[in-house]
Amino acid sequence: MPTADWSAIEALPARPLTDLFAGDSGRLEAFSLDVAGLHFDWSKTHLTREAVAAFEALAKAQGLSAKREALFGGEVVNVTEGRAVEHTAERGEGSEEAVAKARALQSRMRALIDAIEADALGPVRHILHVGIGGSALGPDLLIDALGRDADRYDVAIVANIDGVALEDAFKRFDPDATLLVIASKTFTTTETMTNAQSVLQWMSEHGVSDVYGKVIALTADPDKALEWGVDETRILPFSESVGGRYSLWSSIGFPAALALGWDCFEELLEGAAEMDRHFRLTALHENAPALAAFADLYYTQVRHAETRATFAYDQRLKLLPPYLQQLEMESNGKAVTTDGEPLGRPSAAITWGGVGTEAQHAVFQLLHQGTHLVPVEFVACIEPGDTLGEEHHRQLLMNAFAQGAALMAGKQTDDPARSYSGDRPSATILLEDLDARSLGALIAFYEHRVFVNGVLLGINSFDQFGVELGKEMAKAAVEGGQSFDASTDDLIKRAFG
Ligand code: F6P
Repeated sequence: MPTADWSAIEALPARPLTDLFAGDSGRLEAFSLDVAGLHFDWSKTHLTREAVAAFEALAKAQGLSAKREALFGGEVVNVTEGRAVEHTAERGEGSEEAVAKARALQSRMRALIDAIEADALGPVRHILHVGIGGSALGPDLLIDALGRDADRYDVAIVANIDGVALEDAFKRFDPDATLLVIASKTFTTTETMTNAQSVLQWMSEHGVSDVYGKVIALTADPDKALEWGVDETRILPFSESVGGRYSLWSSIGFPAALALGWDCFEELLEGAAEMDRHFRLTALHENAPALAAFADLYYTQVRHAETRATFAYDQRLKLLPPYLQQLEMESNGKAVTTDGEPLGRPSAAITWGGVGTEAQHAVFQLLHQGTHLVPVEFVACIEPGDTLGEEHHRQLLMNAFAQGAALMAGKQTDDPARSYSGDRPSATILLEDLDARSLGALIAFYEHRVFVNGVLLGINSFDQFGVELGKEMAKAAVEGGQSFDASTDDLIKRAFG
C-alpha cells in the first residue's frame, strides 16, 4: 500500500469562504447532501473540490475502502485488542453471523421487556440505570431526546461515583417499584459496581424482600453478572465486539427500549442502518461521514484547529455534545498509529459544545472574535419539539442560521473592538424531524465520521488504553498505602488525614 502523503492537502490554497462561494455557483450543491432524513451542509467550510480530491487520494492510500469492508465484514479491525468491531451488526448491517447473533440477543431483550410490561417482575415504575461512559451516555441521550412524551417510567441514569448522583435518584424513587439496571460491558468498572451495590443496600434498608428480584444486567461478560448475583434470565448479553462507546444499539440500549417502546428502538436501528448503507455504498465525494471527516482533518491538520464545537439548536439534543465527546475523543485521541509508530501530527480535535441559543450568550464571543480557529457545527430540526406556536422555533432556527452566516461574513468597522474577521467555518446538520429514525441516522453518521478520521490518520479508533493508567492509580489510591508524588500525597493527606 502506498504511504500516506499529506503534501497535496498541506499545499491546498487557503481561500476565504466568501471567495469560494463567489467563485463557484455550484458550491452549495457540491457541498450539501440529503441522507436518511438529514440535510448536511458543508458549504460554509473551506472544503473545495480540489481538497476533496486530495482527501480521496489520501483515503485510497490509507486503504479506506478495504478497511470499511473489513469493518462491515467482521474482520479484526481493532488490531491492538485483536477484535472485530461489530456495532453495525446490531442494526442489521454486518456479517451474516454477527447479524444473526445480534438478532438473537435482541429477541431476549424484547422478551424481557414484554415480561416487565406484563408485570412478571412485580410493579416497575422507576428505572435506575447504573453505568458509566459508553454504558450510560447513549441511553441517556436516547431517553432525553425522544422521551418527552414517554411517561410510563421514571428513568435515572446514574454514572458518577459521587453518591450525590445516586442519592438524588433515591429521593425520587420508590424502592419497591424500582428496576435496577446494571450496565457494564466488562462488569468490573468500579464506579458501576459500587453504585449497584449501594442500590441493593438502599432497597434492603427500605424493606424490599428480594433485592435481586428486579436486577437486570447488560454486559458482554454474563458469567461475571451471574457471579455477582443476577438471575440468568435477567442477564442481557451483548457481543465482545461491540465497543463501549458504540454500544447503545445493543442491550446497553435496554432502558431506552423499555421506556420508549420496542418499536421506537427498532426505528432507531433502522435509521442507523440507512446511514450504514449510505456510508458503505456511496462515493466519498458524496458521502456525508467522509466529507465531514475531510473537513475535520483539513482543520486539525492544515489549519491547526485544536477544537471543534457542536451546538444543538434543539433542547432535546442537549446531551449530544457530551455523547460526541466520548465518541470522538476516546476513539481518536491517540498519539500512535496502528503500527505503534508515533502519529507525528495532531490527533482528533478536542470536542466540545453546548445548546443554542444559550451558548450564544456565553461562549460565542470567542467563536466570533477570539484568536482560536474553532470549526463549529450546528444541529437543528425543522419540525419543532414544542407546541407553543411558531415563534419560539422560528427564533431558534433563525439564530442557528444567522450564527453561521455571521461567522462566515464577519464585519469590518473603524473600531477594532467592534470588528469581526469573518471567514470562520461552520457546518449545519438539519433534521427534518427528531424521531428515533433520524436520531439513529445522526449517531451512525458521527460513528462513521470517527472511523474515517481514524483510518486517514492511521490510528485504531476502537481501543482506549489511555484511560487505564488513571484507573490503576485511582485503584491504588483507594486501596491506600502507596506513595505518589509530593503534591498528590499532600492532597490525599489533606482529605483523609
Ligand atoms: O474507562 C473507559 C471505559 O472503558 C469506556 O470505554 C467504557 O464505555 C466505560 O469505561 C465503561 O466500561 P464498562 O461498560 O465496562 O463498565
